[in-house]
Amino acid sequence: MATAGIGKTVCVTGAGGFVASSLVKLLLSKGYFVHGTVRQPGDEKYDFLLKLERASENLKLFKADLLNYESLYSAIVGCSAVFHIASPVPSSSVPNPEARIYFRGQKYPCVIRVVEVVEPAVKGTTNVLEASLEAKVERVVFVSSKAAVSMNPKLSKDKVIDESCWSDKEYCRKMENWYCYSKTEAELQALDFAKRTGLAVVTICPSLVLGPILQSTVVNASSLVLLKLLKGCESLENKQRWIVDVRDLADAILMAYEKPEAEGRYICTAHSIKIQELVEKLRTLYPNYSFPKNYIEVDYYARVSTEKLQRLGWRYRSLEETLVDSVESYKEAGFLESK
Ligand SMILES: NC(=O)c1ccc[n+]([C@@H]2O[C@H](COP(=O)([O-])OP(=O)(O)OC[C@H]3O[C@@H](n4cnc5c(N)ncnc54)[C@H](OP(=O)(O)O)[C@@H]3O)[C@@H](O)[C@H]2O)c1
Repeated sequence: MATAGIGKTVCVTGAGGFVASSLVKLLLSKGYFVHGTVRQPGDEKYDFLLKLERASENLKLFKADLLNYESLYSAIVGCSAVFHIASPVPSSSVPNPEARIYFRGQKYPCVIRVVEVVEPAVKGTTNVLEASLEAKVERVVFVSSKAAVSMNPKLSKDKVIDESCWSDKEYCRKMENWYCYSKTEAELQALDFAKRTGLAVVTICPSLVLGPILQSTVVNASSLVLLKLLKGCESLENKQRWIVDVRDLADAILMAYEKPEAEGRYICTAHSIKIQELVEKLRTLYPNYSFPKNYIEVDYYARVSTEKLQRLGWRYRSLEETLVDSVESYKEAGFLESK
Protein backbone atom coordinates (compact mmCIF):
# COMPACT_ATOMS: atom_id res chain seq x y z
CA MET A 1 0.00 0.00 0.00
CA ALA A 2 1.54 3.32 -1.10
CA THR A 3 0.35 5.12 2.04
CA ALA A 4 1.50 2.56 4.63
CA GLY A 5 4.06 4.89 6.13
CA ILE A 6 2.09 8.13 6.26
CA GLY A 7 2.63 9.92 9.54
CA LYS A 8 5.33 7.49 10.73
CA THR A 9 8.94 8.42 11.33
CA VAL A 10 11.60 5.73 11.10
CA CYS A 11 15.40 5.70 11.33
CA VAL A 12 17.78 4.02 8.88
CA THR A 13 21.41 3.69 9.99
CA GLY A 14 24.10 4.05 7.33
CA ALA A 15 21.57 5.59 4.91
CA GLY A 16 24.23 6.25 2.25
CA GLY A 17 25.11 2.54 1.85
CA PHE A 18 23.99 0.21 -0.95
CA VAL A 19 21.31 -1.70 0.98
CA ALA A 20 20.21 1.17 3.22
CA SER A 21 19.72 3.63 0.35
CA SER A 22 17.46 1.17 -1.46
CA LEU A 23 15.39 0.90 1.73
CA VAL A 24 15.32 4.70 2.12
CA LYS A 25 13.96 4.96 -1.43
CA LEU A 26 11.24 2.38 -0.65
CA LEU A 27 10.30 4.04 2.66
CA LEU A 28 9.99 7.48 1.02
CA SER A 29 7.83 6.00 -1.74
CA LYS A 30 5.48 4.65 0.96
CA GLY A 31 5.16 8.00 2.69
CA TYR A 32 7.43 7.41 5.72
CA PHE A 33 9.44 10.23 7.24
CA VAL A 34 13.02 8.98 7.35
CA HIS A 35 15.86 9.89 9.70
CA GLY A 36 18.97 8.64 7.90
CA THR A 37 22.30 8.44 9.72
CA VAL A 38 25.50 9.22 7.81
CA ARG A 39 29.02 9.80 9.00
CA GLN A 40 29.91 12.86 6.94
CA PRO A 41 26.83 14.97 6.22
CA GLY A 42 27.53 17.46 3.45
CA ASP A 43 29.78 15.02 1.60
CA GLU A 44 28.86 14.78 -2.08
CA LYS A 45 28.62 10.99 -1.78
CA TYR A 46 25.18 11.46 -0.15
CA ASP A 47 23.84 13.89 -2.80
CA PHE A 48 21.92 11.05 -4.49
CA LEU A 49 19.86 10.55 -1.32
CA LEU A 50 18.70 14.15 -1.36
CA LYS A 51 17.55 13.71 -4.98
CA LEU A 52 15.26 10.73 -4.21
CA GLU A 53 11.57 11.34 -4.76
CA ARG A 54 9.99 13.02 -1.66
CA ALA A 55 13.44 13.39 -0.04
CA SER A 56 13.16 17.17 0.18
CA GLU A 57 10.10 16.91 2.45
CA ASN A 58 10.52 13.51 4.11
CA LEU A 59 14.23 12.75 4.54
CA LYS A 60 16.45 14.22 7.24
CA LEU A 61 20.10 13.26 7.52
CA PHE A 62 21.78 13.03 10.94
CA LYS A 63 25.51 12.84 11.59
CA ALA A 64 26.09 9.65 13.59
CA ASP A 65 28.85 7.18 14.23
CA LEU A 66 28.04 3.69 15.51
CA LEU A 67 30.53 4.16 18.34
CA ASN A 68 28.89 7.38 19.52
CA TYR A 69 25.73 6.66 21.52
CA GLU A 70 24.52 10.26 21.76
CA SER A 71 24.73 10.77 18.01
CA LEU A 72 22.62 7.64 17.42
CA TYR A 73 20.08 8.61 20.08
CA SER A 74 19.53 12.01 18.42
CA ALA A 75 18.61 10.27 15.15
CA ILE A 76 16.46 7.59 16.80
CA VAL A 77 14.39 9.60 19.28
CA GLY A 78 10.84 10.15 17.96
CA CYS A 79 10.99 7.15 15.59
CA SER A 80 8.56 4.20 15.54
CA ALA A 81 11.09 1.87 13.99
CA VAL A 82 14.83 1.60 13.53
CA PHE A 83 16.36 -0.22 10.59
CA HIS A 84 19.92 -0.91 11.69
CA ILE A 85 21.93 -1.50 8.53
CA ALA A 86 25.24 0.35 9.00
CA SER A 87 28.26 -1.89 9.47
CA PRO A 88 31.75 -2.03 7.99
CA VAL A 89 31.69 -4.33 4.94
CA PRO A 90 35.17 -5.22 3.64
CA SER A 91 35.28 -6.46 0.06
CA SER A 92 36.94 -9.74 0.96
CA SER A 93 37.25 -11.84 4.08
CA VAL A 94 40.21 -10.69 6.09
CA PRO A 95 42.75 -13.50 6.09
CA ASN A 96 44.91 -11.79 8.66
CA PRO A 97 44.17 -9.00 11.15
CA GLU A 98 46.21 -6.46 9.25
CA ALA A 99 45.69 -7.82 5.77
CA ARG A 100 45.73 -5.43 2.84
CA ILE A 101 42.28 -5.55 1.33
CA TYR A 102 40.04 -3.32 -0.68
CA PHE A 103 37.56 -1.55 1.54
CA ARG A 104 34.29 -0.07 0.29
CA GLY A 105 35.53 -0.02 -3.28
CA GLN A 106 38.44 2.30 -2.59
CA LYS A 107 40.92 2.22 -5.41
CA TYR A 108 43.99 1.57 -3.27
CA PRO A 109 44.30 -1.15 -0.65
CA CYS A 110 44.16 0.03 2.92
CA VAL A 111 44.93 -1.68 6.18
CA ILE A 112 41.91 -2.96 8.08
CA ARG A 113 42.41 -4.01 11.67
CA VAL A 114 40.11 -6.37 13.54
CA VAL A 115 38.93 -3.49 15.65
CA GLU A 116 37.78 -1.53 12.58
CA VAL A 117 35.36 -4.29 11.58
CA VAL A 118 34.31 -5.90 14.85
CA GLU A 119 33.89 -2.90 17.16
CA PRO A 120 31.48 -0.83 15.04
CA ALA A 121 29.48 -3.97 14.18
CA VAL A 122 29.15 -5.31 17.73
CA LYS A 123 29.38 -2.28 20.01
CA GLY A 124 27.55 -0.23 17.36
CA THR A 125 24.61 -2.67 17.41
CA THR A 126 24.42 -2.52 21.21
CA ASN A 127 24.44 1.28 21.03
CA VAL A 128 21.60 1.27 18.47
CA LEU A 129 19.55 -1.17 20.59
CA GLU A 130 20.10 0.77 23.82
CA ALA A 131 19.16 4.05 22.13
CA SER A 132 16.05 2.36 20.65
CA LEU A 133 15.02 1.05 24.06
CA GLU A 134 15.54 4.46 25.67
CA ALA A 135 13.56 6.13 22.84
CA LYS A 136 10.73 3.55 23.20
CA VAL A 137 10.93 2.45 19.57
CA GLU A 138 8.25 -0.12 18.55
CA ARG A 139 10.56 -2.46 16.69
CA VAL A 140 14.18 -2.71 15.50
CA VAL A 141 15.00 -4.56 12.29
CA PHE A 142 18.66 -5.51 12.25
CA VAL A 143 20.35 -6.48 8.99
CA SER A 144 22.67 -9.35 9.82
CA SER A 145 24.03 -11.64 7.08
CA LYS A 146 24.14 -15.19 5.78
CA ALA A 147 27.71 -14.86 7.09
CA ALA A 148 26.16 -15.26 10.56
CA VAL A 149 24.32 -18.42 9.50
CA SER A 150 26.48 -20.81 7.54
CA MET A 151 30.17 -20.40 8.40
CA ASN A 152 30.27 -23.55 10.44
CA PRO A 153 32.32 -26.66 9.60
CA LYS A 154 30.03 -28.77 11.80
CA LEU A 155 27.01 -28.18 9.51
CA SER A 156 26.30 -31.49 7.82
CA LYS A 157 26.29 -31.43 4.01
CA ASP A 158 22.74 -32.85 3.98
CA LYS A 159 21.35 -30.23 6.31
CA VAL A 160 19.16 -27.63 4.60
CA ILE A 161 20.46 -24.36 6.02
CA ASP A 162 17.70 -22.48 7.84
CA GLU A 163 17.25 -19.99 10.67
CA SER A 164 18.26 -22.58 13.29
CA CYS A 165 21.83 -22.55 11.91
CA TRP A 166 24.53 -20.26 13.28
CA SER A 167 28.08 -19.60 12.16
CA ASP A 168 30.64 -20.87 14.62
CA LYS A 169 32.24 -17.79 16.22
CA GLU A 170 35.35 -19.69 17.29
CA TYR A 171 35.80 -21.06 13.76
CA CYS A 172 35.40 -17.54 12.28
CA ARG A 173 37.99 -16.30 14.76
CA LYS A 174 40.36 -19.17 13.91
CA MET A 175 39.97 -18.44 10.17
CA GLU A 176 40.48 -14.74 10.96
CA ASN A 177 37.29 -13.98 9.05
CA TRP A 178 36.44 -10.88 11.04
CA TYR A 179 33.42 -9.96 8.93
CA CYS A 180 31.69 -13.31 9.65
CA TYR A 181 32.73 -13.06 13.28
CA SER A 182 31.40 -9.51 13.59
CA LYS A 183 28.02 -10.29 12.03
CA THR A 184 27.56 -13.47 14.11
CA GLU A 185 28.46 -11.78 17.39
CA ALA A 186 26.35 -8.69 16.61
CA GLU A 187 23.26 -10.75 15.73
CA LEU A 188 23.62 -13.03 18.76
CA GLN A 189 23.89 -9.98 21.00
CA ALA A 190 20.89 -8.31 19.32
CA LEU A 191 18.63 -11.34 19.90
CA ASP A 192 19.92 -11.69 23.47
CA PHE A 193 19.26 -7.98 24.10
CA ALA A 194 15.68 -8.48 22.86
CA LYS A 195 15.17 -11.40 25.25
CA ARG A 196 16.60 -9.53 28.24
CA THR A 197 14.84 -6.19 27.70
CA GLY A 198 11.63 -7.02 25.83
CA LEU A 199 12.58 -4.72 22.91
CA ALA A 200 11.08 -6.17 19.69
CA VAL A 201 14.01 -7.10 17.43
CA VAL A 202 13.76 -8.93 14.10
CA THR A 203 16.88 -9.88 12.15
CA ILE A 204 17.31 -10.40 8.41
CA CYS A 205 20.21 -12.49 7.08
CA PRO A 206 20.79 -11.70 3.39
CA SER A 207 23.11 -13.58 1.07
CA LEU A 208 25.14 -11.72 -1.57
CA VAL A 209 23.15 -8.63 -2.53
CA LEU A 210 23.13 -7.43 -6.15
CA GLY A 211 20.82 -5.11 -8.07
CA PRO A 212 20.83 -1.47 -9.11
CA ILE A 213 23.09 0.93 -7.25
CA LEU A 214 21.88 4.46 -6.54
CA GLN A 215 25.37 5.77 -5.68
CA SER A 216 27.72 7.24 -8.25
CA THR A 217 30.87 7.88 -6.21
CA VAL A 218 31.53 4.63 -4.30
CA VAL A 219 30.98 0.97 -5.19
CA ASN A 220 30.06 -1.31 -2.31
CA ALA A 221 31.69 -4.70 -1.78
CA SER A 222 28.95 -6.96 -3.17
CA SER A 223 28.53 -4.96 -6.40
CA LEU A 224 32.30 -5.34 -6.87
CA VAL A 225 31.78 -9.12 -7.08
CA LEU A 226 29.67 -8.67 -10.23
CA LEU A 227 31.85 -5.90 -11.64
CA LYS A 228 34.86 -8.20 -11.28
CA LEU A 229 33.13 -10.86 -13.41
CA LEU A 230 32.30 -8.29 -16.11
CA LYS A 231 35.84 -6.96 -16.19
CA GLY A 232 37.31 -10.45 -16.62
CA CYS A 233 40.29 -12.19 -15.03
CA GLU A 234 42.53 -15.18 -15.70
CA SER A 235 40.92 -17.66 -13.31
CA LEU A 236 38.29 -17.79 -10.60
CA GLU A 237 36.98 -20.34 -8.10
CA ASN A 238 33.75 -21.89 -9.35
CA LYS A 239 31.99 -21.28 -6.03
CA GLN A 240 28.29 -21.64 -5.32
CA ARG A 241 26.73 -18.22 -4.71
CA TRP A 242 23.40 -17.24 -3.20
CA ILE A 243 22.03 -13.99 -4.57
CA VAL A 244 19.24 -11.61 -3.62
CA ASP A 245 18.18 -8.37 -5.29
CA VAL A 246 18.65 -5.24 -3.20
CA ARG A 247 15.03 -4.18 -3.93
CA ASP A 248 13.68 -7.54 -2.76
CA LEU A 249 15.86 -7.26 0.34
CA ALA A 250 14.42 -3.79 1.03
CA ASP A 251 10.92 -5.33 0.78
CA ALA A 252 11.92 -8.04 3.28
CA ILE A 253 13.35 -5.49 5.72
CA LEU A 254 10.19 -3.41 5.57
CA MET A 255 7.97 -6.49 5.96
CA ALA A 256 9.89 -7.39 9.10
CA TYR A 257 8.61 -4.11 10.55
CA GLU A 258 5.16 -3.85 9.00
CA LYS A 259 4.04 -7.43 9.61
CA PRO A 260 3.15 -7.76 13.30
CA GLU A 261 3.70 -11.53 13.15
CA ALA A 262 7.37 -11.18 12.08
CA GLU A 263 9.69 -12.58 14.78
CA GLY A 264 13.23 -13.86 15.24
CA ARG A 265 15.54 -14.27 12.26
CA TYR A 266 14.86 -14.55 8.54
CA ILE A 267 17.26 -15.80 5.88
CA CYS A 268 16.86 -13.67 2.75
CA THR A 269 18.12 -15.17 -0.50
CA ALA A 270 16.57 -15.86 -3.89
CA HIS A 271 18.90 -17.68 -6.30
CA SER A 272 21.61 -20.28 -5.87
CA ILE A 273 24.05 -20.52 -8.78
CA LYS A 274 27.65 -21.50 -9.46
CA ILE A 275 29.94 -18.74 -10.66
CA GLN A 276 30.56 -20.31 -14.07
CA GLU A 277 26.81 -20.60 -14.69
CA LEU A 278 26.36 -16.99 -13.56
CA VAL A 279 29.03 -15.89 -16.03
CA GLU A 280 27.29 -17.80 -18.84
CA LYS A 281 24.03 -15.99 -18.04
CA LEU A 282 25.85 -12.66 -18.12
CA ARG A 283 27.59 -13.56 -21.38
CA THR A 284 24.21 -14.27 -23.00
CA LEU A 285 22.92 -10.88 -21.88
CA TYR A 286 26.15 -8.92 -22.50
CA PRO A 287 28.40 -10.85 -24.93
CA ASN A 288 31.00 -8.08 -25.31
CA TYR A 289 32.47 -7.96 -21.80
CA SER A 290 35.71 -9.82 -20.96
CA PHE A 291 34.67 -12.41 -18.27
CA PRO A 292 36.95 -14.90 -16.43
CA LYS A 293 38.82 -17.36 -18.63
CA ASN A 294 39.32 -20.41 -16.37
CA TYR A 295 37.61 -21.90 -13.32
CA ILE A 296 38.98 -23.75 -10.34
CA GLU A 297 36.48 -26.36 -9.15
CA VAL A 298 35.41 -26.13 -5.51
CA ASP A 299 33.73 -29.09 -3.84
CA TYR A 300 31.00 -27.44 -1.80
CA TYR A 301 27.27 -27.48 -2.24
CA ALA A 302 24.58 -26.48 0.22
CA ARG A 303 20.85 -25.87 0.21
CA VAL A 304 19.47 -22.78 1.92
CA SER A 305 15.82 -22.36 2.86
CA THR A 306 13.89 -19.09 2.72
CA GLU A 307 10.58 -20.72 3.55
CA LYS A 308 10.16 -18.67 6.72
CA LEU A 309 10.41 -15.36 4.84
CA GLN A 310 8.15 -16.61 2.05
CA ARG A 311 5.52 -17.56 4.64
CA LEU A 312 5.54 -13.88 5.62
CA GLY A 313 4.53 -13.08 2.02
CA TRP A 314 7.97 -12.25 0.59
CA ARG A 315 8.49 -12.76 -3.16
CA TYR A 316 11.53 -12.13 -5.36
CA ARG A 317 12.26 -11.17 -8.94
CA SER A 318 14.16 -13.18 -11.58
CA LEU A 319 17.95 -13.33 -11.60
CA GLU A 320 17.97 -11.98 -15.17
CA GLU A 321 16.15 -8.82 -14.06
CA THR A 322 18.62 -8.36 -11.21
CA LEU A 323 21.62 -8.80 -13.52
CA VAL A 324 20.36 -6.45 -16.24
CA ASP A 325 19.37 -3.73 -13.76
CA SER A 326 22.72 -4.06 -11.96
CA VAL A 327 24.77 -3.78 -15.15
CA GLU A 328 22.73 -0.85 -16.46
CA SER A 329 23.19 1.01 -13.15
CA TYR A 330 26.99 0.42 -13.18
CA LYS A 331 27.14 1.84 -16.73
CA GLU A 332 25.03 4.84 -15.77
CA ALA A 333 27.23 5.54 -12.75
CA GLY A 334 30.37 5.29 -14.90
CA PHE A 335 31.78 2.19 -13.12
CA LEU A 336 31.55 0.07 -16.27
CA GLU A 337 32.20 0.83 -19.93
CA SER A 338 29.23 0.40 -22.27
CA LYS A 339 29.89 -2.55 -24.57
N1 LIG B 1 25.88 -6.23 0.29
C1 LIG B 1 25.81 -7.51 0.67
O1 LIG B 1 26.05 -8.42 -0.14
C2 LIG B 1 25.39 -7.86 2.07
C3 LIG B 1 25.12 -9.21 2.35
C4 LIG B 1 24.72 -9.56 3.64
C5 LIG B 1 24.60 -8.59 4.60
N2 LIG B 1 24.89 -7.29 4.31
C6 LIG B 1 24.76 -6.30 5.38
O2 LIG B 1 24.04 -5.20 4.89
C7 LIG B 1 24.52 -4.00 5.51
C8 LIG B 1 24.83 -2.97 4.46
O3 LIG B 1 25.76 -3.47 3.53
P1 LIG B 1 26.05 -2.70 2.16
O4 LIG B 1 26.41 -3.73 1.17
O5 LIG B 1 24.99 -1.75 1.88
O6 LIG B 1 27.40 -1.96 2.54
P2 LIG B 1 27.89 -0.45 2.27
O7 LIG B 1 27.33 0.09 1.01
O8 LIG B 1 29.37 -0.52 2.42
O9 LIG B 1 27.27 0.34 3.48
C9 LIG B 1 27.78 0.26 4.78
C10 LIG B 1 27.30 1.47 5.55
O10 LIG B 1 27.76 1.36 6.89
C11 LIG B 1 28.12 2.64 7.32
N3 LIG B 1 29.13 2.51 8.38
C12 LIG B 1 30.23 1.73 8.41
N4 LIG B 1 30.90 1.91 9.55
C13 LIG B 1 30.19 2.83 10.28
C14 LIG B 1 30.37 3.45 11.54
N5 LIG B 1 31.42 3.17 12.33
N6 LIG B 1 29.45 4.35 11.95
C15 LIG B 1 28.39 4.66 11.18
N7 LIG B 1 28.17 4.12 9.97
C16 LIG B 1 29.06 3.21 9.53
C17 LIG B 1 28.65 3.37 6.12
O11 LIG B 1 28.38 4.74 6.34
P3 LIG B 1 29.03 6.02 5.55
O12 LIG B 1 28.65 5.84 4.11
O13 LIG B 1 28.34 7.20 6.15
O14 LIG B 1 30.48 5.95 5.78
C18 LIG B 1 27.82 2.79 4.99
O15 LIG B 1 26.71 3.60 4.74
C19 LIG B 1 25.70 -4.41 6.38
O16 LIG B 1 25.23 -4.58 7.71
C20 LIG B 1 26.12 -5.75 5.80
O17 LIG B 1 26.74 -6.57 6.76
C21 LIG B 1 25.29 -6.90 3.06
